[in-house]
Amino acid sequence: MYRITNILIGAVVSVALATAADRPFQEIMKAAAGANNNVRKAMTDKDNAKITAEAMKLKAEFKAMEKYWTKAGKADAATWSKTASTGAANVVKALKKNDMAKADAAFKTVGGTCKTCHEAYREKGADGKFLNKIKS
Ligand code: HEC
Repeated sequence: MYRITNILIGAVVSVALATAADRPFQEIMKAAAGANNNVRKAMTDKDNAKITAEAMKLKAEFKAMEKYWTKAGKADAATWSKTASTGAANVVKALKKNDMAKADAAFKTVGGTCKTCHEAYREKGADGKFLNKIKS
């Protein structure tokens, strides 16, 4: 029983680790896009706690994206991802100082990366769904 339990725990842990390390790109992108929308909405609502929480998520997702592009050997896309995660981190920093103008500017930096990278690496498939150019 003890052994079986250990094997089961081992299996659960390795699945969890694999998921954390190798999340599919689309999952990261969707989570980043979701957090980006939530930051924008929280900014309109002037809900600083929510802006901070969502900007932290945004930072983490773009950090994951930076790893993905680095692994894929696309230095330009890795740099844009880094710009986005730094931008999200700067939103949080600016809020700590209650500097909304700076937070706005930092959030714009994040937004500026979307179009640049999409133009370079995103395409629409025949079914209308978005594809990652480096995988097709
Ligand atoms: C470094 C590259 C890169 C950056 C930066 C980037 N994206 Fe993307 N994005 C992609 C690629 C490649 C795809 C196509 C593959 C896919 O859809 O998963 C994509 C797809 C998407 C999709 C479609 C998801 C789907 O349904 O397939 C949305 C929404 C999106 N991006 C939003 C954003 C927003 C918002 C930002 C900026 C805050 C952003 N992206 C920044 C590369 C990037």
